[in-house]
Amino acid sequence: MRIDLVSVFPEFFDVLDLSLVGKARRRDVVDIRTHNLRDWTSDVHRTVDDTPIGGGAGMVMKPDVWGRALDDLIGPSAPETITLAIPTPSGRPLTQRLVEDLATRERIIIACGRYEGIDARVAEHYRGHGVRVEEFSLGDYVLNGGEVAAVALVEAVTRLIPGMVGNPESLVEESHGAAGLLEYRVYTRPVSWRELEVPAVLLSGNHGAVARYRRDEAIARTAARRPDMIAELNTSQLDKHDRPA
Ligand code: ADE
Repeated sequence: MRIDLVSVFPEFFDVLDLSLVGKARRRDVVDIRTHNLRDWTSDVHRTVDDTPIGGGAGMVMKPDVWGRALDDLIGPSAPETITLAIPTPSGRPLTQRLVEDLATRERIIIACGRYEGIDARVAEHYRGHGVRVEEFSLGDYVLNGGEVAAVALVEAVTRLIPGMVGNPESLVEESHGAAGLLEYRVYTRPVSWRELEVPAVLLSGNHGAVARYRRDEAIARTAARRPDMIAELNTSQLDKHDRPA
């Protein structure tokens, strides 16, 4: 998979040299390239924004600059092979389901806006030319730009690439997985810490009891923190020993 990140602050993406993503880049498991949008400006001031037409506060990013950048990055590739991901607080929520879908794409270009966002015709133009455009939001709050959301997307997507996560089992039992529940609470040694004990059932060696305990735990936690997820569960995700939380 190839991911291109475009921003006026490409240094933001230095974190992608660290940890598992950095290791995957060095092993050529994923090809991540970062770009400065200003390299596609054509004036001495390297201008990327202008005032909003129709009035209002802030500045809007210019479509001509983005168009040159994106045309260059797409190059001779067929538009259908390209996903253009645009982080914006008005996008659809980034969920594990969307992440799983994005992890199957050949090439993702992430266009990071600043200020009031990118001229709306940019998404419209590329969508109209067969590019798969995904406007996504990290959550119901406003960031100063798309960079943090872009880094979150890269980390969530790349960890699903085969060979990225050391133990693929850890992808199975996790929050927002197929079970439709948040993950149960986890513990490690010491068994007793600051007068807090690891639940005895986890030390019992009884795998059936441990599984039941963890599932009850996951249901209770999900009901308390994310009642919307409980409401979304379907019968195939329940087992006959589940009790109302
Ligand atoms: N840019 C600004 N706020 C954002 C958000 N919540 N999600 C994605 N991109 C953003």
